[in-house]
Amino acid sequence: MSIIEFLQRSKSFNWKGAIRLDRPYIICHMGASLDGKTAGDYLKTERAAYFNDLYEELHKRFDSNAWMCGRVTMEEHFTFGHQLDLESLDGPVIPRTDYVANNHAESYAIAVDPSGKLGWTKNAIESWNEHRKEEQHIIEVLTEQVSDAYLAHLQKIGISYIFGGNEHINFTVVVQKLKKRFSIQTLMLEGGGFLNGSLLNEGLIDELSLILVPMADGGSNLVTLFETSSFLTKQPPVNFFLKDVERLEDSGLWLKYVTKHD
Ligand SMILES: NC(=O)c1ccc[n+]([C@@H]2O[C@H](COP(=O)([O-])OP(=O)(O)OC[C@H]3O[C@@H](n4cnc5c(N)ncnc54)[C@H](OP(=O)(O)O)[C@@H]3O)[C@@H](O)[C@H]2O)c1
Repeated sequence: MSIIEFLQRSKSFNWKGAIRLDRPYIICHMGASLDGKTAGDYLKTERAAYFNDLYEELHKRFDSNAWMCGRVTMEEHFTFGHQLDLESLDGPVIPRTDYVANNHAESYAIAVDPSGKLGWTKNAIESWNEHRKEEQHIIEVLTEQVSDAYLAHLQKIGISYIFGGNEHINFTVVVQKLKKRFSIQTLMLEGGGFLNGSLLNEGLIDELSLILVPMADGGSNLVTLFETSSFLTKQPPVNFFLKDVERLEDSGLWLKYVTKHD
């Protein structure tokens, strides 16, 4: 029996991820209302709180030590709009080369922050619930447009960073670097919709883990699961195939889809 056949027969082995040599296996893990909204008033209700907790519990079920969010989500949930005072760090030009402060972390939090706006004051996000117990070392994904002072700040506090392009981010390059520099095998892509849409656009999503919250928000202009930023060219629709479905308490559903048939 060949090694590939052996791995395919092993039930507990994610062979699709394992044989992908150049990048991590990418799972988009999200919660959405019945009308596809990933943000909105419905998330502030008591009923949605149960599904928010479940989101964290289900995150833990995936064997992954890395998750990625867009700048807006990171600002809303982790840096809370904190602005850095970088005047004292104005200095020499810093080469636009990747900086690895720690590639032996137990877990990684990856922030897509093209121009360096996030006001991090520490190099890791501390545990905030029982499902994310370990400290998560921060990796910033930047473009070369970022200021030298921001790079100096990241180096000073020990945040790793990688470059995804000059003006725009090429996520194919980014995820390859995450595997090469940090040995990330499985990446949880955890919103928001504009970040998800960017990876969808490059054909980088292998799996969708969707918690369907049994509410309809009805709000217009709310971010959906996948959005296309104005500077991107929308690609043809992407096919998903149902892998598993689980009934949740209180009328919810956990849907798992893959983008390629086995
Ligand atoms: N329901 C859920 O499961 C869930 C999960 C996560 C988040 N959310 C919610 O989603 C909302 C935010 O979603 P969002 O889509 O507006 O924001 P987002 O995806 O969190 O962040 C968008 C930002 O990320 C950067 N970015 C994304 N794609 C890029 C690309 N291709 N190239 C360069 N930069 C890129 C840009 O930063 P710059 O603006 O700095 O250029 C962009 O404005 C929040 O309300 C959050 O709570 C919900």
